[in-house]
Amino acid sequence: MAGAYGLGILVALEFAYVLLRRTLPRFRHRFVYHLWALAAATLAFLVRTPHAEGSLWRVAVAAVLFLTAAVLFEIFEAGVLLRPWHAAQGPMLPELWRDGLRTLVLAAVAFVLAVQIFGADPKDITLPGTAVLAALGFALQDVLRNVFAGMALQSDRSFQPGDWLWLDGRPAQVIDITWRAVRLRTNEGEILIEPNATIATARITNLGSGREPVAFTFRVGLPYAAPPARVKSTLLAAGRSAPGVAENPVPEVFLENYGDSSITYRLRVWTRQVTSVLRFMDGVNTRIWYALQREGIQIPFPIRTLHFHQHDRDIARERAGEREHIADLLAHLPLFQALERQALERLATAARRQHFDQREVLVREDERGDSLFVIESGRVEVSKAAAGVTSGPVVLAELGPGEFFGEMSLLTGAPRSATVSAAQSSEVVVITRQALQPLLAADPDLVSTLATALAERAAETETKLEGRRAAARASAPAVGTFLTRIRSFFKLPEG
Ligand code: CMP
Repeated sequence: MAGAYGLGILVALEFAYVLLRRTLPRFRHRFVYHLWALAAATLAFLVRTPHAEGSLWRVAVAAVLFLTAAVLFEIFEAGVLLRPWHAAQGPMLPELWRDGLRTLVLAAVAFVLAVQIFGADPKDITLPGTAVLAALGFALQDVLRNVFAGMALQSDRSFQPGDWLWLDGRPAQVIDITWRAVRLRTNEGEILIEPNATIATARITNLGSGREPVAFTFRVGLPYAAPPARVKSTLLAAGRSAPGVAENPVPEVFLENYGDSSITYRLRVWTRQVTSVLRFMDGVNTRIWYALQREGIQIPFPIRTLHFHQHDRDIARERAGEREHIADLLAHLPLFQALERQALERLATAARRQHFDQREVLVREDERGDSLFVIESGRVEVSKAAAGVTSGPVVLAELGPGEFFGEMSLLTGAPRSATVSAAQSSEVVVITRQALQPLLAADPDLVSTLATALAERAAETETKLEGRRAAARASAPAVGTFLTRIRSFFKLPEG
């Protein structure tokens, strides 16, 4: 009979467990619950057993009461502290604080049980208890320091699991914060375990989780001779075009100070790419180099080195070498084959060599432009926005060394007909309309070669766009399809 009574209690409590898991899915301490159910069933069994008394009885009652307190705390945690009605806001108390509260509550219950059920004198518990605690506290100073640092880190929410921190010159993502340490994972897959106390006193930067943009600053020392307005617009363009830069907030440039050998500028850009900060910084720094190079702004060596090496004669020799190089390059192109060496050298004097990073835009569709580009090395992609035809741009061509582009705007004055971007890092020679004008007047062949290319390309572009339009028309659902769907939805008769 007593056995059946105990069994009945066990089944009832296990049934209650199923209901509890349904209403509070965040209730996770199943082991404590099952232990409690078992202890309660045992107690029920003992109640029905004659002469249930003595120390076994007291232990059973104390165990059930203690486990009841534990289960009630878990229900309170899952139903209130974890804020299940507003999960997005996160728990009311961070994990370490909940653990601390649980320890306190259970210690208080154990104290009351010891006094009330086992008849212990409170003084017998508190005095040695305090002494033991003091001794433990002394012995475990380091552990406790980490525990309290962990609680402080969680309560002020300096960072959360998933955030990226800048630690010892590299980024690492927080996995979790335990009683002893913060665990982090670097991009190289290493797991770092930093004691809470170290993190609490270290100067760390929290880059967030990538939802909100964070700012990065790039300092560049540039020559005194370069006008600040030009430097600023060049750095801004580099910042805007770099991969991973957020559109908002917009990049900013500040002239920071006048140094011994250069003026220091500070470029501030924002990004959400916190998962690969080193790659992001590489992208921006690389774009800065390319943008400055194209504007002819050199990142200076210290002034002393400059004076020592760069005599006027050296500079003149360098320029002559560059002119020869461009003239040789142009001489090999079918476009300029009819030109005399002298004319080519005049053209080369006015031309500039520019470097572009992979994916940088050389020419943007619809912008004004009056220069012709000859590709020296690398590859570029020509594409055109085809609004109303496809959602993305249509790729018209890929051009490589020896080929040219930009002739349409140069010859007709119309805005750029397509966007040209670097498919690989590329070097180009830029020739302005002003430099080309005398040659166009003197060489009718040059005009007709350029005009032929222009006409052929315009025709090819039209063919490609027409092909896309036809494909778009073919894939658009016919009116009949919609009619059938509407009729079936409203259960209308066939018309
Ligand atoms: P421009 O219009 O000045 O600027 C964009 C350039 O892309 C254009 O000159 C041409 O040089 C080039 N371009 C346009 N359409 C094509 C095409 N179909 N094939 C190759 N190049 C093209």
